[in-house]
Amino acid sequence: MLDDKKVLFSGMQATGSLTLGNYLGALKNWVKLSDDYQCFYSVVDMHSITVRQDPATLRKRARALMILYIAAGIDPEKAVIYFQSHVSAHAELAWILDCYTYMGEMNRMTQFKDKSAKHADNINVGLFAYPVLMAADILLYQTDLVPVGIDQMQHLEICRDIAMRFNNIYGPTFTIPEAYIGKVGAKIMSLQDPTKKMSKSDENPNASIYLMDDPDTIRRKFKRAVTDSEACICYRDEQPGIKNLLDIYCACTGTSTEDAVRAFDGRGYGELKEAVGESVVAVLEPLQKRCEELTKEKSYIDGIIKANAEKAAYYANKTLRKVQRKIGFPDRIR
Ligand code: TYM
Repeated sequence: MLDDKKVLFSGMQATGSLTLGNYLGALKNWVKLSDDYQCFYSVVDMHSITVRQDPATLRKRARALMILYIAAGIDPEKAVIYFQSHVSAHAELAWILDCYTYMGEMNRMTQFKDKSAKHADNINVGLFAYPVLMAADILLYQTDLVPVGIDQMQHLEICRDIAMRFNNIYGPTFTIPEAYIGKVGAKIMSLQDPTKKMSKSDENPNASIYLMDDPDTIRRKFKRAVTDSEACICYRDEQPGIKNLLDIYCACTGTSTEDAVRAFDGRGYGELKEAVGESVVAVLEPLQKRCEELTKEKSYIDGIIKANAEKAAYYANKTLRKVQRKIGFPDRIR
């Protein structure tokens, strides 16, 4: 609880090109929730280096992501948006929590298994300990709520386990966070294989809608989206392609699933694809324009980066000092 408001934390990696999944599964909910909570939204650049990055590209993407947060409607005067690497408490708490996390717990993480299969030449310790850094991110701010897509649930569970373990040993230290999974859009699937999640690392560019795709590309990708031969617009697991299109439509337009199914009753897949494409263009086009405008406002963005990193560090250090005291690190001499 900060200033009588509950605390919300979330983060996004500046790796690759963000997809519609990132927007509908996370960012859109961040904006929706930001009036009711004291929010911390981080560009988690320290997580990004678990996979090899080109330095200039990482720097550029990290700044573009910060701008995207603002363009999406997050008010940087109210929410604390900052680069993870600007607040050293993240690394310091992560090290401490590493010492309260078991190898067996990390071994079970499906994201580690997937990523180490994909990057077999670079299975580094950071990739293995990734969920502990994520736990540090969340616990530093005494977070009550963490809005994420379904793919992050396993990491959130381990964060809760680590926090409870620490609290059991040292007494109440961390707030135990809850996940917030949106009703629609929590798992946007690939347009080419709707049994797989839409991912920025997919090799087939037609599988994902990137947030910076132009309107024609968006329309074309939906036209090519894989469906089925049932010829029925129904919302059911047996038709994952159609279900995904309906999910995207509902998340972009705010329509309920029942209303969408009713509206498309008896219509063809072509019509559905077109309507979904238009609903996505209507969301992304203004977002892209706003990003373009904000990119030009260099000193305004620089000001936000500086002020918010200081704010984040203030709150993060409060928790870090408390933890350091509890585990027996010597007091600082003022
Ligand atoms: P990342 O950068 O992979 O994804 C950012 C957010 O987007 C959501 N997401 C999706 N939601 C629905 N459908 C999809 N296809 C889809 N793809 C991605 C993710 O669930 C996530 O919410 N480890 C995190 C970043 C992180 C973090 C944190 C999140 C670091 N520390 C602390 C919350 C709290 C990650 O790599 O997300």
